[in-house]
Amino acid sequence: MKVFHNKSQLSKIIDGFKAKNRAIGFVPTMGALHEGHLSLVEKALSENNVAVVSVFVNPTQFDNQEDLVKYPRTLEADVALLKTVSDDKIIVYAPTVDDIYGDDVKSQSFKFDGLENEMEGAFRDGHFDGVGTIVKRLFEIIKPNRAYFGEKDFQQLQIIKKLVELNHMPVKVIGCPIHRADDGLAMSSRNTRLTENHRKVAPFIYETLKSAKIKFGTKSAKNVTEWVEKQFKKQPLLELEYFIIADTDTLKPVKRKSTKKTYRAFIAAYAGDIRLIDN
Ligand code: PAJ
Repeated sequence: MKVFHNKSQLSKIIDGFKAKNRAIGFVPTMGALHEGHLSLVEKALSENNVAVVSVFVNPTQFDNQEDLVKYPRTLEADVALLKTVSDDKIIVYAPTVDDIYGDDVKSQSFKFDGLENEMEGAFRDGHFDGVGTIVKRLFEIIKPNRAYFGEKDFQQLQIIKKLVELNHMPVKVIGCPIHRADDGLAMSSRNTRLTENHRKVAPFIYETLKSAKIKFGTKSAKNVTEWVEKQFKKQPLLELEYFIIADTDTLKPVKRKSTKKTYRAFIAAYAGDIRLIDN
């Protein structure tokens, strides 16, 4: 498996694929890969000739410096895991901060039709400017035909679709289902940092989302939200940051339910100092 640390070497390979009309599937990641990431890579391989997987802990999307410092960096294990999917059809791009940003480690400022102001945008200052900046640069370097994003970060997926639309980028953005552990906890690179006790209670997040979905069938969003907040108060190891039922397209919190719209419920919660999200 080829692993590139700088874009000029990678670009030569990309140009070769383009010349031969090979379809490139792209899976951007921050590494510490798990089965959730692998499900995206498998889908990319099933729909393209090659998959490029980027592994880059992007500094500009972290609003919390401690989270950036502590984010797991496990490139060797990541490459080994990718080899179990395919050795010859996957290319890894693991750039240095310098290769991506040079001396200017800064975000571009974006507007995504208001999607950037909801949920994660409201609670993580500058997060989506950082995500938009890195994904746009990676698209320009890798020139993928298709790019794969998990519904685990549903708001990010919608924002990347908007980024592509607003900038007329020639890439198809494909959403992939959330991969879960057997007990329902959405897989995340951050899960490895949970204490044993926090890991044990963390599936409570998905359990609560499932119950909320059933309740939303007959009750108002306000009613369901109050119920969820009450459940979290009874769970001392988890601290709810937000529970929001939002319109799937605009991501704005639902006010009055309409049969013409679809909705999705979102949770962000702290397990100790680890922030978990699910929907
Ligand atoms: P990261 O958190 O590493 O996630 C990389 C991709 O894997 C994202 O599209 C994410 O939604 C998806 N993913 C993570 N856990 C998943 C799960 N349990 N099931 C399905 N998909 C899952 O998201 C990022 O990195 C970064 O913001 C990035 C897009 C790479 C930009 O830096």
